[in-house]
Amino acid sequence: MNDLHVVDHPLIKHKLSIMRNKDTGPKEFRELLREITLLLAYEATRHLKCEEIEVETPLARTKGYRIDDKNVVVVPILRAGLVMADGILELLPNASVGHIGIYRDPQTLRAVDYYCKLPPLNDHKEVFLLDPMLATGVSSVRALDILKSRGAKNVTLVALVGAPEGLDVVFKKHPDVRIYLAAVDERLNDHGYIVPGLGDAGDRLFRTK
Ligand code: URA
Repeated sequence: MNDLHVVDHPLIKHKLSIMRNKDTGPKEFRELLREITLLLAYEATRHLKCEEIEVETPLARTKGYRIDDKNVVVVPILRAGLVMADGILELLPNASVGHIGIYRDPQTLRAVDYYCKLPPLNDHKEVFLLDPMLATGVSSVRALDILKSRGAKNVTLVALVGAPEGLDVVFKKHPDVRIYLAAVDERLNDHGYIVPGLGDAGDRLFRTK
């Protein structure tokens, strides 16, 4: 059974529709991606363990809870995942951040990794892999291969929009991964873009086209 969660919420639907609009500019696009990431993270962090602690209120001692966010590792796939990392770090400010640079060869659509800097990983770390567009799935699979080869066991992939083809590829290679998305779209086109999608997320975030 695939661990897929499409977070169905009016705020996410509303904000994603603005992002899809081709006339939305980079400032608003970045802000919306960060905001949707916060909303997705609310669900995607549900499995994190809470430790019981004691808290002293102005009136009494009581039971409280604490997430050990030093155990959390946030890994944006460069470059579009960077804005999502900013969103999650607002909620879990002590998380470590790793970076994986992968681009998709436009001819072969193969994933080529060109950068990797990760904190120490092990089977206790809670890793959140971030990439807004889960299209062919090849970048996600490559990033998951790298994370697991470094010792990660608990990985949650958080994306904005997914294509059914890409989801199949990821779950076939990594059936244990949890995936949280704002939407699953219709299909990929011949260039590996998600349709209807929102275009090239990196170009729209950083105005590179
Ligand atoms: N990457 C994007 O930014 N957009 C797509 O539609 C597919 C991959």
